[in-house]
Amino acid sequence: MSETLANGMIAQLKPQKNQLDERGLLRYGKMLIDGEWVDALSGKTFESRYPGSGEVIAHVAAGDAADVDRAVKAAQRAFTDGDYRKMNGADRGRLLWNIADLMERHIEELAELETLDNGKPLVESLKVDLPQSIACFRYYAGWAGKTTGETIETNARANAFAYTLREPLGVCGQIIPWNFPIQMAAWKLAPAIACGNTVVIKPAEQTSVSLLRLGELMMEAGLPKGVVNIVTGFGETAGAALVAHPGVEKIAFTGSVEVGKLIMRHAAGTLKKVTLELGGKSPNIVFADSNLELAAKVALMGIFFNQGQMCTAGSRILIESSAREQFLEVLAGRAAKMAVGDPLDPKTRMGSLVSEEQMNRVLGYVEKGKAEGAQLLSGGGRVGTQGYFVTPTVFDNVSNDMTIAREEIFGPVASVITFNDAEEALRIANDSAFGLASAVWTTDLKKALTFARGIKAGTVWVNTYNMTDNALPFGGYKDSGFGRELGSAALDVYTQTKTVYIDLN
Ligand code: NAI
Ligand code: MG
Repeated sequence: MSETLANGMIAQLKPQKNQLDERGLLRYGKMLIDGEWVDALSGKTFESRYPGSGEVIAHVAAGDAADVDRAVKAAQRAFTDGDYRKMNGADRGRLLWNIADLMERHIEELAELETLDNGKPLVESLKVDLPQSIACFRYYAGWAGKTTGETIETNARANAFAYTLREPLGVCGQIIPWNFPIQMAAWKLAPAIACGNTVVIKPAEQTSVSLLRLGELMMEAGLPKGVVNIVTGFGETAGAALVAHPGVEKIAFTGSVEVGKLIMRHAAGTLKKVTLELGGKSPNIVFADSNLELAAKVALMGIFFNQGQMCTAGSRILIESSAREQFLEVLAGRAAKMAVGDPLDPKTRMGSLVSEEQMNRVLGYVEKGKAEGAQLLSGGGRVGTQGYFVTPTVFDNVSNDMTIAREEIFGPVASVITFNDAEEALRIANDSAFGLASAVWTTDLKKALTFARGIKAGTVWVNTYNMTDNALPFGGYKDSGFGRELGSAALDVYTQTKTVYIDLN
């Protein structure tokens, strides 16, 4: 386990040509602005670490307002003239497809970088994150040039001809989190480009490396300069500057509720369009009439996948009282057997949390859970002293007013809540500030449909969990944010409608 992780993690990488710099660190550290790889104007850098061991893997440019300004100006130029303007929908579709092809050709390398950045198991980077991201680029390749306006019969006067145009917004600012670095970038970049926008994207400071490599591949795929600019750096500097910049038309953000609120407030100054994909405390409701064995198995995946660092994490598991014992036996039994391991080992299914800060936040919630009287069934501690590994944790006897049932933990901690009937289950499910995702397990069609209608959340899964799909809209109710990503819904938030009215008198 983590104690046995040898230093020199980078040395374990399958040798990739030109991946290391003269210090033996990953060479990804410069920002992509106007098609060039540049240092921050200030010359400042920050250290990027591999969570599995805590060792430094790269020195990354610490971009700030001056760099954001350069990037936004490059994106404005790319939007108004240059090669990108000459590209039609089919050209942009081909570009997105080329990006996907290049990602596929470099999938192992990208997956390794994703794991070095984030600490997630290599097998998940390789088999889940990367394939879904590649598919996302292909999905939006198909949409490029297919956003259409309408011809509409006028109402006020008969002798007129009117139609609408769907036009791109211009420069879009995209601020992404560290939990699925490449996938969150794909969800935002692909629809923005499909619709003909240009982009300034800021990765999370914990995970810059994989996006910088993706930037190289995008340029290799034929992306004209300035269409996608990557500014690395911290939220309070680079992120805040992007939100405040008058040349940016829209901010798409995924992250914490706290920063989401801040962004909305600061975007008001320049009246930017904003879409926010924030946290969750999603209920996973299991009725006694369901396949309990399967429900328990999937519930574990629903909370422990990606070490629980998921906005959709099924962190409140609601079990019907009559099935409680049977369900918990499977759940706790399997959770106890789930071992954390070296993220780079292909056999590992649970890796490291992203940072020491995140690990301490999660362990703090475990302490709160115990102090407030929840019963710890399994896990609850750190593993080793190197890296940020936390054992899969299950709390039973949780009541919905405890802190561990109300606040997003963003770690491998499940809170099991017992209910007696459907009415109580629905009440508990909706008694939350969040409304991102939810699931209901039942073989009773009426119950399933009643819950699908009754739950206040952007997604309701029935007899499954965590099935996002590039074709299906994704986003939040309540404090989980607004605006939808993926599907054709994302085209709405990356275009605006123009009305053309022609007087025929
Ligand atoms: P965060 O919201 O601070 O960071 C997310 C992104 O926002 C990063 O790129 C960061 O640099 C940027 N950012 C931070 N402050 C900013 C500002 N003032 N202006 C503009 N951009 C800013 O999230 P953090 O601190 O990494 O994690 C804290 C908690 O947030 C987690 O424990 C989790 O509960 C939640 N979270 C939720 C995510 C989701 O997928 N919905 C993703 C990441 C975090
Ligand atoms: Mg933060």
